[in-house]
Amino acid sequence: MSICYLNGSYQTKFDARISIQDRGFNFSDGVYEVMSFSNTKVINFQKHINRLNLSLKELKIHYPFKNTKTLKLILNKLIKLNKLNHGFLYLQITRGSASRNHLFPKITSPNIVIFTFNTKIDDKHIIDGVKVNLTSDKRWSRCDIKSISLLPNVLEKQNASENGYYESWQIRNNYITEGSTSNAFIINKKNEIQTHPANNFILGGVTRDSVIEVAKRLDLKIREKAFTACDIDTCKEAFLTSTTVRILPVVKIQKNKINNGKPGLITRKLMSEYNDFINSQINGKY
Ligand code: PDD
Repeated sequence: MSICYLNGSYQTKFDARISIQDRGFNFSDGVYEVMSFSNTKVINFQKHINRLNLSLKELKIHYPFKNTKTLKLILNKLIKLNKLNHGFLYLQITRGSASRNHLFPKITSPNIVIFTFNTKIDDKHIIDGVKVNLTSDKRWSRCDIKSISLLPNVLEKQNASENGYYESWQIRNNYITEGSTSNAFIINKKNEIQTHPANNFILGGVTRDSVIEVAKRLDLKIREKAFTACDIDTCKEAFLTSTTVRILPVVKIQKNKINNGKPGLITRKLMSEYNDFINSQINGKY
């Protein structure tokens, strides 16, 4: 039976209960993180904590743990209780439970839910790459906050899937911002790795950040500047990143084949180097 963490105690997922007045449930008033772990090591842990802190601060929700070490102990215990070697952690913090009122409640404490989950990345996606649709970005202008309010993302991901695509890349004011569940990259005609800057119009992905770090080590040129659909027409390669899939080659964007419909060499190099980067964290080098 899978064990989760709920407000200070470890319970089976079956037993865990949350109030119908939880503000996450009523207002999407909360934030989340998805982290991966291997050999009980949480990958890119500090980057996830930094983003969690930013999201909480922006929503004026108090950091509910004594310190980062406390949270790390909780995560490690949860991984141990679930007897898992590798997988993912979902952590959600809402403002708390209170009678329904848009105004922040005067007295309440955050509701914390953490559980583990597993998802198998389709080998075909890693080897052959994926297809991406282009759609308009219908989200608010604080996409940098990892808010649990994900309706536009859910609708876009579903729309992509129903139309035979793996992901939707969203367009705001002519520029591709990011995917519905991942960050978007191209290798432009100057051989630069180009992606939207980490501002309020995208979620600053932890994988995005780490891939940029890895690319710099490989002496690859990075251009954090938004690109357009026209830039896609002339790009050499494309890929997407997220914690759950790491890096996936993008081989077709709408009707446009990228690199003749094959994952590109730079993308392959980054995938392999990123796997090494993660393995060194697991083996304790980072
Ligand atoms: N989503 N952009 C969006 C909109 C996302 O939802 C995600 C990840 C990313 C990539 O962020 P990171 O590299 O930190 O995982 C970018 C997670 C995995 C999810 O909601 O399940």
